[in-house]
Amino acid sequence: MNPLVIAPSILSADFAKLGEEVRAITEAGADWIHVDVMDGHFVPNITIGPAIVAALRPHTHLPFDVHLMIAPCDPYLEAFAQAGADLIAVHVEAGPHLHRSLQAIRALGKKAGVVLNPASPASSVKHVLDLLDLVLVMSVNPGFGGQAFIPSAVEKIAELKAMIGDRPIRIEVDGGVNPETAALVAAAGADTLVAGSAVFKGGPGQYAANIAAIRASA
Ligand code: DX5
Ligand code: ZN
Repeated sequence: MNPLVIAPSILSADFAKLGEEVRAITEAGADWIHVDVMDGHFVPNITIGPAIVAALRPHTHLPFDVHLMIAPCDPYLEAFAQAGADLIAVHVEAGPHLHRSLQAIRALGKKAGVVLNPASPASSVKHVLDLLDLVLVMSVNPGFGGQAFIPSAVEKIAELKAMIGDRPIRIEVDGGVNPETAALVAAAGADTLVAGSAVFKGGPGQYAANIAAIRASA
C-alpha cells in the first residue's frame, strides 16, 4: 500500500497571491501541489501556463503534480517539465497517441500519469501500465472546482486497483473530494487525493485543519 498523499488543488486558491497560497498549504501539511492546467478547448475554462508554474517553483519544496487539461498536450510537455513539474498527467481523451505522450514525459525525466474522465473506462490504461506512475480518476467533469462527486468513480477505482496489482502505480482521485468522499475512495483503493474547495475553504487559518480532516478519514 502506498502512503497516502494529499494534493491540494491550487485552482481553489486566491490567484492574486498564488505564491503565498502555495507556501501556506505547504506549511499546512500538503504532500504534493496539484496544478490544474486548462486551455479553454479541451475543457471550458482557462487557467495557468508554464510561466506560472515556473514562478511558483521557488515557493515550495513539494512535488508539483501537473494535471494537463489541454489538447493537443504533446507540444507543451517540455515546457511544463522545464517549469518544474515533477509529475505530468495527460488525459486519455486528449490525443490519439497516449503511449507516445507517456514515453515523451518519461524521456523528459518526469513521472507520468494518465487521467480518465468520468465516462472513460478503466480499461483505457491496460496497455500502458508499464509507462505509468499514476492513474488519475476524475470524479467530476474537468473544468471547475466545487462540483459534486460522481459516485461511479468508486467502482472505477476498485477496477483499477485490481488491474494494477502490485505495480508501483498510484491511484489518484480528483473532484468533489472531502472528508466524506475521501473515506469512500480510499476504501476502494485510492492513495492520492486531490482536493480544492475542501482544502481552501475558510481561508489560510483553516488549511491545516482541512487537510488533516481529509487525511483522518481516508
Ligand atoms: C477540476 C480540477 C480539480 C478541481 C477540484 O477540473 O481538475 O483539480 O480543482 O476541485 P474540488 O476539490 O473543489 O472539486
Ligand atoms: Zn485536477
